[in-house]
Amino acid sequence: MNFQDLLDTKFLVTAAAGAVIGASGILALSALKGSESHSTRKTHPKWKSGNPRREYCTMHSNIIDTPEIIELREITQQHERGVMESTPDVGQFLRFLMRMLKAKNVVEVGSFTGVALMRMAEELPDDGKAFALDVSDEYVNVGKPVLKKAGLLSKIEYKIAPALDSLVKLKEEGYTGKIDLCFIDADKGNYPNYYKLCLDLLRPGGIIVFDNSLYADRVITDVTSDPNCYIHETNEKAVVDTRVSSLLLPMGDGCLVLRKNDE
Ligand SMILES: C[S@@+](CC[C@H](N)C(=O)[O-])C[C@H]1O[C@@H](n2cnc3c(N)ncnc32)[C@H](O)[C@@H]1O
Repeated sequence: MNFQDLLDTKFLVTAAAGAVIGASGILALSALKGSESHSTRKTHPKWKSGNPRREYCTMHSNIIDTPEIIELREITQQHERGVMESTPDVGQFLRFLMRMLKAKNVVEVGSFTGVALMRMAEELPDDGKAFALDVSDEYVNVGKPVLKKAGLLSKIEYKIAPALDSLVKLKEEGYTGKIDLCFIDADKGNYPNYYKLCLDLLRPGGIIVFDNSLYADRVITDVTSDPNCYIHETNEKAVVDTRVSSLLLPMGDGCLVLRKNDE
């Protein structure tokens, strides 16, 4: 049995056990509304990426999922564009950042059904605000009833328009230098523009996370075709930008993390 066979066998055994544990876990979690639960481990459809290193990492991450997140994930995975949902490891990372930054004002560029949005909104204080930017009312409306049921809608302000316009509007509304965390996960061609506008909005010490910064590793071998070139341009810009410190993490589909320097 070679290493891959061993991995496959272990996967089948653990997946079967995981299905049982996962099913009973979800039942138990339904009684734990509002509390922290750890369930994504083997139940999330996205944990099986086909990459043994990523799967091992997800298996060994105690990802916090509330019953409402589980419900929203299930609805999202039934959606024809469900593949756009962000991965649970990235969601967990955002949750960590929210806690570390004690974030009060956050922006998501590209919310889709709201899975990452929900994780961030769960971490906000009652007077916190999550600006959820998307062009599609249709996508956002898929998740809204679950976010409402979770009591989170009062902390969310949707802006349904091209995100460039919404970011400019946030500046006009006085949010320059006031945002703690930006999660950027929309059209890749605008990543360099989102970089500029979100950095203006960020407070010193605030953090921007770009998702898909490796774009299924395609950015590593081809930096000329669209949209790789825009993602690459953003990654390159971060390395030389003296206003930030940066870290490109091989997590999920690649996450470029920028921290705006203290003044
Ligand atoms: C990959 S999905 C976002 C996934 C989401 N962040 C999550 O955690 O599940 C990308 C979203 O960006 C939105 N989008 C694409 N182009 C946009 C634009 N120019 N302005 C605002 N939203 C845009 C799409 O409608 C889609 O919902």
